[in-house]
This record gives sequence, structure tokens and C-alpha cells, in this order.
Amino acid sequence: MKKIAVFTSGGDAPGMNAAIRAVVRACVYYGVTPVGIFQGYDGMIRGEFQEMNSRSVSNIIQQGGTILKSARSEAFRTEAGREMAFNNLYRHGIDGLVAIGGNGTLTGAHEFHKKYKIPVVGIPATIDNDLDGTDFTLGYDTATNAVVSAIDVIRDTASSHNRLFFIEVMGRYSGFIALRSAIAAGAEAMLIPEDDIGLDKLIAVLERGMQNNKSSILVIVAEAGKSGRTFQIAEEVNRRFSYYEAKVTILGHLQRGGSPTCFDRVLASRLGVAAIETLLAGKTDVMVGRTARKVKATPLSKIIKQEKEIDKELLRVAEILAI
Ligand code: F6P
Repeated sequence: MKKIAVFTSGGDAPGMNAAIRAVVRACVYYGVTPVGIFQGYDGMIRGEFQEMNSRSVSNIIQQGGTILKSARSEAFRTEAGREMAFNNLYRHGIDGLVAIGGNGTLTGAHEFHKKYKIPVVGIPATIDNDLDGTDFTLGYDTATNAVVSAIDVIRDTASSHNRLFFIEVMGRYSGFIALRSAIAAGAEAMLIPEDDIGLDKLIAVLERGMQNNKSSILVIVAEAGKSGRTFQIAEEVNRRFSYYEAKVTILGHLQRGGSPTCFDRVLASRLGVAAIETLLAGKTDVMVGRTARKVKATPLSKIIKQEKEIDKELLRVAEILAI
């Protein structure tokens, strides 16, 4: 391989820049020319390509967001769009691709490879952590740390006023952010799609909190397909249980930016190098991930179909500690 292109797509995630840096530098190390594609699949279609070198990725390991920009491309879902993208890759002499993003990005990469046979390796990057084949996706650790810091702040005011706070966190279809941050912030309950406890059980938790003299209650709600759903939940709970005054905080995009944690930087560095070594070893249509402290490659076809399971043990721990 002489030229490998890298791009970021979908929702940005802290650690994407560290991954771009690792991909670019691993290319240079192995004598391959790295090329950056701007604006994800949209930029691939429009021909926004730029050759890079080890200096183009200086001082970005600590930055959130993505220097290559990102987009959720509608055009790439069409045959015509994909053909234009392939023509541009061909014109620029690209021999392989590294796709950094979440499920949508990796699904696009898999479909693209199926049709045009261009070698491609994915790097999992989404704050949602909803990809199988890796224990952690890039950005999840940073995002959950941001969430926990925000909840700590809310707890101070909640306990000063005997309040019940519903805190909505991201997670388009999953409760990974909610679960981890609920445990780390000592929340009383969580509402996540993987373990729908329902309003009756939630109200029972609130009643128990009242009986146990809790000065505040924190409930973490995963947005789960409907950002803002927490307002309705809070209203309904207010109607049925009024001991605590209920308030709602939606953390929204505050969770998605910011400097990546040490964990995300190291993970991104390992996966960036692994992506290039995987391509150079002749493997394609796979995602590199980290499970049980080892980096491994899993076929994209498997990743995009399989739902990652929530850790039931963590659910149990959260329930015990909420007493
Ligand atoms: O996939 C990451 C994510 O942040 C989800 O948690 C959230 O539902 C979605 O992206 C929001 O996307 P956008 O920034 O395009 O509104």
C-alpha cells in the first residue's frame, strides 16, 4: 500500500484526534503516505482530500472534536454518492481506508467495501459505547467523566433543597453512558432502554428514599431515541409523588466535547497503529477494538449487526448501592 486515507464520520467523539494522529504517524513510520479526507463521507464525495505528514498532526492528541471535521452523510447512502466517492479515491490513488466513527460510519464502510472492494479498517469512536467487538469505544470514557462531573455539581444543589433531579444523558439507543455515570455519581436510579424499570418501580425507589431520609434523589435517564423525553417522565412522577420537588437537567452536547482522558488517548493511539498494521497485513472489512486488554480485529459484518450487551453485573451493583 502506498497511500492510506483516514476520515472521521458521525457524531464527533473525544479521542478522534488522537486516533487520526496515530493513523498518520503509523503510516509515516511504515513508509505509506497518509491522506486526510475532510467532512467524512460527504468530503469523500466532494473530493476534499489532503496529504498529511507527521507534523500535520502535532499538538492534537489533547484536543476534543476532530480536525478532519465530521458529518452524517445522506448522499453516501445512495448508489450515486458512493460511486462518486469511489471515483475520488481512485483519482487520488488511495489503496486503503481507515474509517473512524460509530455504527453508521462502520455500516457505510462495510457496504462500500462490499461493492468496491477497497480495503477498509474501522476504529470504533462514539461516546455511546454501543459497538460490540470492543469493551470501550473512543470518547466513552471522556464523556462519562464529563457526565459525572456535572452530576456532582447537581448533587450539591439537589441535597441543599431536598430535590429530585432527573438528569438526561446521551445514548441514542443505549444506556451505557447512563449506567456507568449513575454508578460513579452514586445515583439512586436510572432509566435505560436495556432495563426498563417502569414508573411504578421508580416511584417505589423514591418512596424508599423518603423513608430512608435521603436529602436528594438523582435519576439518570438515557435519551434513548427521544432527547427531551425526561420532561414528560418528570411531569408524570410529579403527579404521582410530590415529596421531592422534581427538576430536569438535560446535559446534551456538553457531554461530547472536551479534552480526551488519558484512557481515551491511549486507546486511540493503540487502535490507530493497529488499524494501519491490520491494513498492511492484508486484512480488510474489519474493526479494530480492545477487549480483555488485547487489541483484536472483528469483521464489520458482525459489528454492525450485533447489539452490545449491557453489563448486568453493573446493574446489580447500582441497585445494591442505591439503598
Ligand atoms: O452517537 C453519539 C450521539 O452523541 C448520541 O448520543 C446522540 O443521540 C447523537 O449523537 C446526537 O447527534 P447530533 O449531534 O447529530 O444531534
